[in-house]
This record gives sequence, structure tokens and C-alpha cells, in this order.
Amino acid sequence: MNTTKRDFLTVWDLSSEEIDSLLKRAIELKSGKDANKCPLIGRSIGLLFEKASTRTRVSFEVGIYQLGAQSIYMNPKEIQIGRGETIHDTAKVLSRYLNAIVIRTFSHHTLLEFAHYSSIPVINGLSDLHHPCQALADLMTILEKKGPLNGTRLAYIGDGNNVANSLIEAAARTGIHMTIGCPKGYEPDPDVLEKATSVSKNEIVVMKEAKDAVFKADVVYTDVWVSMGQEKEAAKKKMKFSRYQINSKLLSYADRDAIVLHCLPAHRGEEITDEVIDGPQSAVFDQAENRMHIQKALLEFLLK
Ligand code: CP
Ligand code: NVA
Repeated sequence: MNTTKRDFLTVWDLSSEEIDSLLKRAIELKSGKDANKCPLIGRSIGLLFEKASTRTRVSFEVGIYQLGAQSIYMNPKEIQIGRGETIHDTAKVLSRYLNAIVIRTFSHHTLLEFAHYSSIPVINGLSDLHHPCQALADLMTILEKKGPLNGTRLAYIGDGNNVANSLIEAAARTGIHMTIGCPKGYEPDPDVLEKATSVSKNEIVVMKEAKDAVFKADVVYTDVWVSMGQEKEAAKKKMKFSRYQINSKLLSYADRDAIVLHCLPAHRGEEITDEVIDGPQSAVFDQAENRMHIQKALLEFLLK
């Protein structure tokens, strides 16, 4: 077992200083610095995805190519995991071929188990509990658009899901002041909230009313109401969340220069209106682009 390997399963796996240096490096990479250097030449990075993906898959595949490495996409249905081979054996075998692996899975427990048996870095490409690569790209976008993160006011409106959990951890690590507006029963994970509020120098507060959460925010963020794997709950959730849509009226409670973020894919007309997502305050496509730059910085860091 390689005892020096570093995983990235949640935002807590990086210190505040490491996040800071990854953000700086990602901004350098985005500017074109080192575009012709291939620091990961000869390496192979696996992508094991149990769920659909556009941004995570393509941004990793292109980023890996730009770093000089090879990516190998695996659908669990087409490898022996789909026929019952254990995570334990799969992790040990893939560690003999690959230099790192990105995993998108239903249960966060699968990631923990894989990371335990693997001797290579494991990166969380989304689980039911966390989406830490997304949170890093969100920090990069906020830094680019609003300046230093410490003290920035971020309002997350909607479901207390994987994206919200990672964003809370990212806020706690960077001194962002965060309000979460969500219906009762759909709050973020209590363990995530407890740890984040104990670590954070600034407030992280859950509120019932969307407009209270958005009041004077610098950044207004939302995600889908029905995440992958929750399709059976769709009708009930859509009713519960109808007052949590990011529309022009709700946005008017935020700071007049506030930006709007969404991890995408969006369900236009549900959690966000066309006029907001396509409007002048929206930074969602820069945010999507930043997935690639920050993940390149993360791969350089984990494989250095
Ligand atoms: N934001 C995000 O992770 O998008 P994908 O599901 O398309 O990867
Ligand atoms: N919360 C969403 C995020 C998709 C990127 C989901 O898990 O489906």
C-alpha cells in the first residue's frame, strides 16, 4: 500500500492553504501558462462512472489529455463490477494499472471502500453526499468574479444535497459567509453542517425563507430539486420547492452586483428561470469551464 497517496473525497481533504494554492494554479492554467508542458506524461487516469455526466466526464477527459496523460472511461455495467466483482478486488487490481481514479457513484460509502483498498489517489466525481470538484470550481468562479473569498456572502437556495454539502465545506475552509434557504426536511447533511459551523470563522446559517437567505448576497447559487437517483420523489419535491425558485424577483433581494451560479445541468423553469440563467448576472458557463482548470490543478497536486 502506498501510504503517501492523497484522496479527494470531500473538501475537508484539502487544507485552506492547499485550496488557496490550487485556486492560484488553476487561474494560471486558465491563462495559458504552461500550456505546452505535459507534467503527467505517461500516466493513466481511470474514470469509473455509475451515473450520467457531461461536465465532470468531459472536463476530466480533456484536462487529463492536456496534462499529457491518458484517461480510461469505465461504465460499471461493462466491467466485472457489474457482474458482482467486489469493490475491494477492483480497487486493488485497478491500482496496479492506473495512477489515479475519478469515481462517480450513488453511495458515498462505495468511495470510502474503494479509497481504503486502493493504493492510488481516488477523486470523488460526485456521490449522494458530496460533489467536491464542483465546489472547487465554484470557489474559483467566485474568486474571479467577486475577489477574495473571505467574507463574501453566498446564498444557496434549494435542496440541501451533495452540491450544497460540498459548498458548505468549501465556505468553511475559505471564510465565505453562507446562508442556505431550503424547505423543512431538506436541510443539508447535519454532520456536514455541524463540522462546518465549528470550523468556520464566519456564519453558516440555514433559513426557511428563500428571500431571507438571499438578502444582500454577493453570490446566489442553486441546483436541481431532484438529484440523480431521486426520480421517484420528483412530484413531491417539486411541490415542496416551488417557493425556492431563483427568478428575477428573488434575485432582486441580493446585492445589485450579485452573480448567479448553478452547477448544471439545470431544469429551466423549476429551480431557475430562463431570464436569470441567461441574464447578465449569470456566471454559470464560466463556472462550468472552471471545472476543467481546477481539476487540472488538482491532478497535478495529487500526482506530483
Ligand atoms: N455539474 C456536474 O457535475 O455536471 P455533470 O453531471 O454533467 O458532470
Ligand atoms: N445534485 C445533482 C448534481 C448534478 C451535478 C445530482 O446529484 O444529480
